[in-house]
Amino acid sequence: MKKVQIGLQEVHVGEVDELCRALADEVEALLENRLKEGKPAVLGLATGSTPLPLYAELIRRHREEGLSFANVISFNLDEYEGLGRDHERSYWCEMWKNLFDHLDVRPENVSVPPSISDDPDRAAAEYEAAIQAAGGIDWQLLGIGGEGHIGFNEKGSEPDSRTRRVTLARKTIVDAAPGFGGEKNVPNHAITMGVATILEAKRVVLMARGASKKEIVARALSGEVGSDVPASFLQNHENVGWFLDDDAAGS
Ligand code: PGA
Repeated sequence: MKKVQIGLQEVHVGEVDELCRALADEVEALLENRLKEGKPAVLGLATGSTPLPLYAELIRRHREEGLSFANVISFNLDEYEGLGRDHERSYWCEMWKNLFDHLDVRPENVSVPPSISDDPDRAAAEYEAAIQAAGGIDWQLLGIGGEGHIGFNEKGSEPDSRTRRVTLARKTIVDAAPGFGGEKNVPNHAITMGVATILEAKRVVLMARGASKKEIVARALSGEVGSDVPASFLQNHENVGWFLDDDAAGS
């Protein structure tokens, strides 16, 4: 694995399994440190295909090496609007299937933004308050969308944005369509942590895999900082790591 520095950002480039081991090492070190301090470790987690091999590595460490997640509080980035928790495409369902079901995490310590709410503004404010009450996010994992979204902070999201209801970009809907059996079944709205919520995490790591992410990763890492590419706001964070496979890095 190679490591280079671009501005404030450290960029790791390597094979997917190397990237996942390095990310899992970060999680493991955080869990150990927080346990020694007698505090919970607060993770910000992501869905999508990108983190699946990392989640497999965390599950392996739990099963084979006894890494315990009993001391973890987690907050997911985002959720589609209107899908119940039992909907197989809901991020709630995906997180349990791909990660939480296989760990010793306490169910009451796991949060995903509410998919269904009669008052989305209140629900969003409560989500922000819960993150604050947990002491803030120690380690935030991100993927990146084809047009540079982080969470569901689409193009146009401002750096001071907070958890809120958003309209999904056309590209996001098109990308999600295969999993929903067609575009018409993809929700048009979602609830997402804001850019400011994400940037308040003490450490932010963004993982990207595949050639389809190459161009947007380059723009986010080295292009102009602005709401045209919300991931570019990471350039202003003092503790951010990019974890890229060779295709996403363009190397
Ligand atoms: P992906 O999605 O991991 O499925 O590529 C990433 C994202 O849209 O944030």
